[in-house]
Amino acid sequence: MFGQLRLDNRIALVTGGSKGLGRAMALGLASAGATVFVAARTEEPLQELVTEIEAKGGKADYRLLDVTDEAACIEVVNSVIRDRRRLDILVNNAGAIHRAPLLESNTDDYRHVVETNLISLYVLAREAARHMSERGYGRIINIGSVMSTIARPNISSYAATKHAVAGLTKSLAVELAPMGINVNGIGPGYFGTEFNAPLMADAEFTAMVESRTPVGRWARPEEIAGAAIFLASEAASYVTGHMLYVDGGMTVKL
Ligand SMILES: NC(=O)c1ccc[n+]([C@@H]2O[C@H](COP(=O)([O-])OP(=O)(O)OC[C@H]3O[C@@H](n4cnc5c(N)ncnc54)[C@H](OP(=O)(O)O)[C@@H]3O)[C@@H](O)[C@H]2O)c1
Repeated sequence: MFGQLRLDNRIALVTGGSKGLGRAMALGLASAGATVFVAARTEEPLQELVTEIEAKGGKADYRLLDVTDEAACIEVVNSVIRDRRRLDILVNNAGAIHRAPLLESNTDDYRHVVETNLISLYVLAREAARHMSERGYGRIINIGSVMSTIARPNISSYAATKHAVAGLTKSLAVELAPMGINVNGIGPGYFGTEFNAPLMADAEFTAMVESRTPVGRWARPEEIAGAAIFLASEAASYVTGHMLYVDGGMTVKL
């Protein structure tokens, strides 16, 4: 059974892979045997992560990418395929949040969140699926949020796009299953990443996370890795269209 969780000879691309949850999933996929390409906008953290994975005996490479640049997304998918002759696993992880009350928000900021959290996932999934469908095998994992199913004030662009991630995941799952491509999502709860640094520094918010989460604490970034390994692996061969919430029980608590 544990062999089914191995990812030897698999080629994976993780967007936003240099930090936070992307970094944790990249480390996890590499530890399971995959060759992991990590992609983000800043070179140094990507280089550091590749060095760390290689030092642990894993295989990794990196690509510079701003996921809001459609041409760059297409080129990165193609360059991985040119380099390794295939792409088995796409983790659509890069995301953005903009916090503002509706009445103080503006359309440009809203559009940026939609471009980052939704359009880029569509573009990358489309380009990956072009190739995966020819081979009859693929795994696409979209990173949503607990905001894929619930909401909080002042982040409507984030909640709207993360709900859309769940819709995109289900829609692509039913469309791509006949081509051998499984499409699933992960809905993280509150993880202690750079993304959440302002919230972690806020005692009132931290008290809310601790009381609202049945597990009673912020999650550690490495606690996301198991879900990504599972969904990328043969253990999940009959799992598609699913949102796997890794949220300490937050979304099932009234
Ligand atoms: N942390 C949480 O508690 C939590 C909860 C629910 C959902 N999530 C979701 O999980 C994902 C990752 O969040 P995180 O907390 O790990 O964030 P993070 O710590 O801020 O890391 C973000 C990563 O994405 C990259 N990135 C940001 N914008 C990008 C862009 N336009 N193009 C390419 N790469 C980009 C960053 O590198 P560069 O800046 O160098 O590009 C970095 O590698 C997001 O989709 C987020 O919505 C997080």
